Amino acid sequence: MLDIAFGTWKIQASQAKSIVEKALQVGYRHYDTAAAYANENDIGEAIAQADVARDSLLISAKLWTSKRSYDAAIKACKRSLKNLQLTYFDQYLIHWPAAPALHTNWQEMNAETWHALETLKQDGLVHSIGLCNFRPHHIDALLQHANIKPSVNQIEYHPGYNQLETVEYCKKNDIKLEAWSPLGNGLLLTHPMLQKIADDHNISVAQVCIRWCIQHDVLPIIKTVSIERMKMNRQVFQFELSTEEMREIDMLPVFGYSGLDPDTVTQFG
Ligand SMILES: NC(=O)c1ccc[n+]([C@@H]2O[C@H](COP(=O)([O-])OP(=O)(O)OC[C@H]3O[C@@H](n4cnc5c(N)ncnc54)[C@H](OP(=O)(O)O)[C@@H]3O)[C@@H](O)[C@H]2O)c1
Repeated sequence: MLDIAFGTWKIQASQAKSIVEKALQVGYRHYDTAAAYANENDIGEAIAQADVARDSLLISAKLWTSKRSYDAAIKACKRSLKNLQLTYFDQYLIHWPAAPALHTNWQEMNAETWHALETLKQDGLVHSIGLCNFRPHHIDALLQHANIKPSVNQIEYHPGYNQLETVEYCKKNDIKLEAWSPLGNGLLLTHPMLQKIADDHNISVAQVCIRWCIQHDVLPIIKTVSIERMKMNRQVFQFELSTEEMREIDMLPVFGYSGLDPDTVTQFG
């Protein structure tokens, strides 16, 4: 069965150590980190000082868009390992594909970055390598040059944004899916239809969203700074959404979408 991963975006560096310490106490074992979140050092301190065996943790990290070249990617991964005080990552992901709107040679750029990740895996610095925000055409292009298939694709995924085409493609190609912003970065929490389903089960809207991801076999990554919410967000294995409820949520029109389209996004370079 899928577990719940803990997200670390928007956690201030000054708070990250104590928040990750709390998440470890609550029982989270899978941590989603990224160089771009500017809190690796503080998360690393919490992990290094925790009384938790390294092999019971799954630490995932991401390569930022300014480090796409082969040499820069290798160096960036080593830097992130040092920041997090680790000797290996369980997962290392490309944070965003090179955007076709910005780069005419986006296929070659993604292939070069992927080649660096393959080297990192061969050298034992990362145990598995994967992607974020790749759509089927980005993955198809990557697979033409790849020696190692991506293990995972982390995408925006929540009620109101279910990226059906990408999800079906990844499932067909045996690429695991992870959901970022499973609560629509908090925007879904007051949606009346989700509230009604939550009331019927005597749970919260957050738990409905998390359970919906799980029942679609997509691993939810959730960020919270609150220990009560950390606990609540893991209490999603004692109930089940009915087929009708799942269908109703699936049919929700676009809602809570971040607007970040990997083909046209320009702010990430
Ligand atoms: N690969 C990518 O490009 C990418 C992009 C975005 C995010 N991510 C990853 O995915 C993670 C999750 O996404 P996210 O941080 O955007 O959003 P999210 O987890 O969907 O939502 C986080 C928001 O919901 C609130 N929240 C959490 N649990 C709650 C609960 N039970 N009840 C009410 N509110 C609750 C949090 O507030 P409090 O903290 O105040 O509780 C926070 O404001 C990130 O942290 C990051 O690790 C990856």
